[in-house]
Amino acid sequence: MVKIEINAVEFYVKNNISVLEACKIVGFYLPRFCYHETLSVAGNCRMCLIEINGMPKPMTACALPILANMKIWINSPMVRKARENIIEALLLQHPLDCPICDQGGECDLQDQSRNYGSDRSRNFFNKRGCEDKNFSDFILGIMTRCIHCTRCVRFNAEITGSAFLGTLNRGGLTEIGSYNSQLNKETYLIGNVIDLCPVGALTSKTYSFKARPWELKSVEAIDLTDGLGCNIYIGFKETEIVRILPKINVTLNGSFISDKTRFFFDALTTYRVFSGYIKQNNKFISVPKMHALQELATFIDCLLYTTVIISAENDFELYLLLQHLTYKYAEILRVKTFSSKINRSNIKLGTPLNFNEALSTANLIVLVSTSLYIENAILNSKLRNKSLLQNISIYGISSGLNVSLGTNFINFVFTTFFFILKGKSSLLKGYSLLKSHTFFLIGETFFQRGIEFNQLNSLIKSFLPHSNVLTIRLLSNSYGLEKTPLVNAVRKDFNRKSFFVLVHLLDNIRLAKNLYQKKIFYSVLNPFGSKLARFSSILVPTSTAFEGGLNTFFNLEGRNQSFEIKSLPFALKISARFAFEFCFDYTINPLELALYNFKNTNINLIFFKPTFLPFININILTKQLVNMYPIKKSLTDFFLTSIFTQTSQILAKVSQTDRKQFINF
Ligand code: SF4
Ligand code: FES
Repeated sequence: MVKIEINAVEFYVKNNISVLEACKIVGFYLPRFCYHETLSVAGNCRMCLIEINGMPKPMTACALPILANMKIWINSPMVRKARENIIEALLLQHPLDCPICDQGGECDLQDQSRNYGSDRSRNFFNKRGCEDKNFSDFILGIMTRCIHCTRCVRFNAEITGSAFLGTLNRGGLTEIGSYNSQLNKETYLIGNVIDLCPVGALTSKTYSFKARPWELKSVEAIDLTDGLGCNIYIGFKETEIVRILPKINVTLNGSFISDKTRFFFDALTTYRVFSGYIKQNNKFISVPKMHALQELATFIDCLLYTTVIISAENDFELYLLLQHLTYKYAEILRVKTFSSKINRSNIKLGTPLNFNEALSTANLIVLVSTSLYIENAILNSKLRNKSLLQNISIYGISSGLNVSLGTNFINFVFTTFFFILKGKSSLLKGYSLLKSHTFFLIGETFFQRGIEFNQLNSLIKSFLPHSNVLTIRLLSNSYGLEKTPLVNAVRKDFNRKSFFVLVHLLDNIRLAKNLYQKKIFYSVLNPFGSKLARFSSILVPTSTAFEGGLNTFFNLEGRNQSFEIKSLPFALKISARFAFEFCFDYTINPLELALYNFKNTNINLIFFKPTFLPFININILTKQLVNMYPIKKSLTDFFLTSIFTQTSQILAKVSQTDRKQFINF
């Protein structure tokens, strides 16, 4: 700790920080444009100037390390004058288009001109002209507004590892630009530059001219487009969702979100089904939704068996309810899951694992059967930062590895995996694996070959006691579903005697084949339209998790997060939970629910019957797992992964342009 003085008040602060950080810690705000907590220091905007005793000129606080006995003045006449001049210099070339700028109301330049700028202009010359740039399908660059803070350039170079943005030209002709023509493919985190840009130079195409910040109501929620569960703010203008912004959560997503999280929201309004449908004389007839629900209840009452098929994208409360119902109506009701990616009966949860903690202790990372940059762009960027800062090695077994991580490719097949475990692989020479802290990140496709997570975990731990294993789950509540004893529907479950209810499932060839071939009667509970819904007997439109009710989701680490979006008119929609309560005339008693208070108790004890694993014979497992067939990728398209992203027009368009590899500008 060192002693410093700010505005003649003494403070003790850490000695390895900058003056700007010291001021922030003790509660003094310094204006800034180029400085950002997550990026390196550029020191080019000069807005954070301060006066230091003994220095003839003002200094940049963001680039100046703190020294003992420093006497800092953050509001002296010299500092105020310097700030006024900086603002004047920035406004020399900045257009006065605040009334039509999307950043208006949350623009750093607007705020700081008001706070520190002069009230009159001395500029009587033409301003610099600059062409707008179409950076990607998400971002419009209005480059006359750019103040060249280079936050966007540093974000791309440092966080995403792509160098597609840079400063072109010099002096008065400096511009932010790119020579790259495939911007969408470069990184899946590009939307974050919209938040980072302190002015309105990089704006969101989807938010353009839609609303002003003071008209919006921000509601906290959880991202449901992948397995990580990033924290987000949903911006409502009256009842319409106009944008999604990241909510800072240091342990989960930091201050960033992926592009599909940011832009999926149009799915909540397009392709929605707004009334119920019943099939009569082979025609779909539109009826009020309660009527359709009543019809479904009658079907369930009349028929002998009902099989409910659910996806891994429903809230945990629905799983709990269905679990109760299967206990109560064991003779007539079965609940199965359906996932085209994995055989869910073969993936059972391990103990929750904090990704950050596991990463901080790891000195060797092995990616097995996962293309992390497609499956989870945020985790991929965390891994990248770690590999750069601490010079750790990353090895990968599978196709589709990401070059931004600098991964050492091992093999397409599992042959080498067991050599690595046994410490016999020549690839990892120089590593004492027994002592090293290895972090295995396993893709879901690994479990298609019959091995269970617990088996794999204990196998790895038996060879490498200090290792951690995490499954990269793709869907928003895969972990939650694994906490229940529900397993995937197999071919023999598709029985003509049973009536089927499909919950929140989109089109799937395997599912459709099973249903159509056997001419099975089925009903669909879904917020979105689909081919499967068109051929059903009854379609009940349901609400999504973003439209009311308390919803709990477990992310891929096993972390539970709940959110509730209240008081929106469309919260009156029928939720899947309500539909089952109505059909079976059953409501979970709040006391019973308290029993399942997953925040404090271990739900596994109640629902998950632990199976005692047999002695693990590595030779049998090796035969089972190792064959000459290469490991398939779990995902090929970053954008079309969940029920929300698959129904978003914005993401469908971007996915299409990705595949076309278009020339941008
Ligand atoms: S585009 Fe925005 S973030 Fe990038 S340099 Fe210009 S002002 Fe800064
Ligand atoms: S914030 Fe310090 S120079 Fe820009």
